Amino acid sequence: MPAKTKRDYLNRPVEHVDITRYNVVPWVEAMQGMSYSARDLARAAGILDRMIQDKDCGIILCLAGSLINAGLKKVFVEMIRCNMVDAIVSTGANIVDQDFFEALGFRHYIAEERLKAGLDDQELLNLHIDRIYDTLIDEDELRVCDDTVREIADALEPRIYSSREFLMEMGAYLERNGCKAPESILLEAYRKQVPIFCPAFSDCSAGFGLIAHQAARGDRPKVSIDSVKDFLELTQWRVRNRESGLFMIGGGVPKNFAQDVAVATDILGQEMRMHKYAVQVTVADARDGALSGSTLKEANSWGKVDSSFEQMVYSEATIAVPLIVGYVYHRGNWKARETRHWNQVLDTVVVR
Ligand SMILES: NC(=O)c1ccc[n+]([C@@H]2O[C@H](COP(=O)([O-])OP(=O)(O)OC[C@H]3O[C@@H](n4cnc5c(N)ncnc54)[C@H](O)[C@@H]3O)[C@@H](O)[C@H]2O)c1
Repeated sequence: MPAKTKRDYLNRPVEHVDITRYNVVPWVEAMQGMSYSARDLARAAGILDRMIQDKDCGIILCLAGSLINAGLKKVFVEMIRCNMVDAIVSTGANIVDQDFFEALGFRHYIAEERLKAGLDDQELLNLHIDRIYDTLIDEDELRVCDDTVREIADALEPRIYSSREFLMEMGAYLERNGCKAPESILLEAYRKQVPIFCPAFSDCSAGFGLIAHQAARGDRPKVSIDSVKDFLELTQWRVRNRESGLFMIGGGVPKNFAQDVAVATDILGQEMRMHKYAVQVTVADARDGALSGSTLKEANSWGKVDSSFEQMVYSEATIAVPLIVGYVYHRGNWKARETRHWNQVLDTVVVR
């Protein structure tokens, strides 16, 4: 039997689910009358809808895990388009390795069942194919993503940037050079001036591009990323929002970073402002004492989250998120919300 080639594996792209096509409102309403996770999910959808109707509330979307390669990209793009999001905190993997990667014209691929059964990771390594559970990526294409980050850094004024500032430059790059995917979180956020923060920015494809940039610069001035600047900027964002709400997918760094700004307002001598609304979709539970599965009730003890409108949804994100966001989309309350141009605001309030 002839040896398999890359194309034997990388031939069926992941498709992004389109929430605009399916009106799930009756379905989610029916879940309100059920028990367990169904009722939790319905309540979470109601809380997200309430955040959207609260004119004083700024909404932070938090993204951990591998969500974009899994087909959720269009859900988040739709949220940005419809003014449902005022800031994003994410792992670098979602925004750079996955969203920016697709914007450069690359795709994620479904590992076919018949191949998955006999999937040989050593063979994948030999073919330069990376695997995320049941999804495959061309490693050579990912290297182009790393190199493009380096190209962007090389062209910038050498100074210290927040990840937000650098990610806006990546959005500007897509605007100038053309986005090769039908939609992109980075590009849509750039157009809508929605700030994106990746506090652990070097822990993804961007890190490879930036070490190449810094190594080549040697002792000369270079671009570097300051995660403290990120924290200060998001805290300034919180100070300027009377109320705030969190829609968290997964846990990890984005969950804690976004929650901590409530306490950070106090550190900066402002009135301490807990997040008024919070929804988290996660598969983690509280047993290990770690952050990802810690409940939102527990976050109340830290002064991070108010206890009136919070809901944990224990579900894998690809199942729960299209239902929650689809419900809010088809309810249509977002139509009364305006674009808030937070990037422009943050550019003026934070010291360079
Ligand atoms: N995930 C990747 O493929 C990948 C690739 C390159 C770099 N990284 C980096 O690794 C670091 C850790 O990121 P991470 O992506 O592994 O997230 P993470 O480990 O920080 O995720 C935190 C938690 O979120 C929950 N979660 C994750 N995916 C979920 C899902 N689909 N549904 C429900 N809950 C879910 C889980 O409880 C998980 O423990 C980041 O800095 C990231 O940039 C990740």
